[in-house]
Amino acid sequence: MSDPTASDALVFFGATGDLAYKKIFPALQAMIRRGKLDVPIIGVAKSNWTLDQFRERARDSVDKHGGVDAAAFAKLAQLLRYVDGDYGDLSTFKRLRTELGSAEHPAHYLAIPPILFAPVVEQLVKANCAQGGRVIVEKPFGRDLASARKLNAILLSAFDEAHIFRIDHYLGKQAVDNLLFFRFVNAFLEPVWNRSFVESVQITMAESFGVQGRGKFYDETGALRDVVQNHLFQVLCNLAMEPPVRSDGETLRDEKVKVLKSIATLTPADVVRGRFDGYLDEPGVAPDSDTETYAAVRLTLDSWRWQGVPFFIRAGKSLPQTRTEVLVRLRRPPTMFPECRTPPNHLRFRIGPDVEIALGATVLDTQARMTGRAVELLAVHRPGAEDQDAYERVLGDAMVGNESLFARQDYVEEAWRIVDPVIAAATPLFAYQAGTWGPAEAARIVPPGGWDDPSVLDDATF
Ligand code: BG6
Repeated sequence: MSDPTASDALVFFGATGDLAYKKIFPALQAMIRRGKLDVPIIGVAKSNWTLDQFRERARDSVDKHGGVDAAAFAKLAQLLRYVDGDYGDLSTFKRLRTELGSAEHPAHYLAIPPILFAPVVEQLVKANCAQGGRVIVEKPFGRDLASARKLNAILLSAFDEAHIFRIDHYLGKQAVDNLLFFRFVNAFLEPVWNRSFVESVQITMAESFGVQGRGKFYDETGALRDVVQNHLFQVLCNLAMEPPVRSDGETLRDEKVKVLKSIATLTPADVVRGRFDGYLDEPGVAPDSDTETYAAVRLTLDSWRWQGVPFFIRAGKSLPQTRTEVLVRLRRPPTMFPECRTPPNHLRFRIGPDVEIALGATVLDTQARMTGRAVELLAVHRPGAEDQDAYERVLGDAMVGNESLFARQDYVEEAWRIVDPVIAAATPLFAYQAGTWGPAEAARIVPPGGWDDPSVLDDATF
């Protein structure tokens, strides 16, 4: 790497954990395959493993998540080091310092529960591993506004703001970047992208699976903290922000913070929480849990562009489908064809698993009666080997110090300010059956025209 401040070692804590297995090893192999990673990679964990066991885990991980690339994996295995030890024990960090060798700018990735951040940072400083380095922290950043501030103070005691990277892997997704790109490189959108033409905006993050063995983490987190306060607010910001005057990271982040500042703090009336039946039987979940696996939220943006346009977010586990999607409904035009109850036009952006952009329109169906048919003009992109995975993208950017794809502290604090009161209020938790679209009570928070249901569009005539 030619950048003199680029990370010359990558350390990841929680190296034998779930996130490393599902996301980090595959991202590391991909970075090596593209020639973007050639520094020591040091895993730290307390599992009583040897380096060989650790390499085996890496092989199994890439095998199950995309496949082993023989040459890239051989290189990964050669770059891997492993330090086994307790995070509370200084000797673990002294051994880490030894493994770091001559590295002066290590990137420390804390893929561990937030409760361990403070002791790990403290030991990094004591063992002389922090100076000149960077720290990469997983979301959610804190549990609420107060804890986010405390956590920030801990990180700032060892690293300056330019060297703190608050990960939100949604920012590494091409489809999330494309929301911004698409809005600002196409001329046709801007005239309608405002309160005069947009009726409502809704964002759905549906997952057809449950907590997948992450019961303990999830039970301490819940849907609002796990995905709404971070991933889905980032999506909302890309949809709602003003055109940035420059494309550098700070300017983009300034515009996002402005969006959050315009959002009214939520009240209990703006939120419906749900929990799928069977959640309490998941390993790691507390018997008296009050954690939501579903949340529907109505947001109000008080800005020149968006005043009066309701924004909705819906996120849930064990729903009928896995799909993350944005639906922007335009206002209905006056109709001159009495037989045709024209539905409003819409723009639909699918963020995953596939990437789609669709323009919903009505075309003539029966000429004799002048009735219409709803159609979508659709552009589809199926991610392939040439596309970077979100974790590959964010890890690579953190290592070269590109902060654009990371949350700034003022952003994180505004995001907590919006959700804090409803998290603290512990609003009622309604049951829903796995495989349904959430609790019946969610009918209290429904966008005009209803929630986005892809099955409705199939062959609809009006
Ligand atoms: C993670 C959440 O951040 O994002 C998970 O903790 C969620 O609960 C996951 O399933 C979804 O990410 P993706 O990239 O699969 O949409």
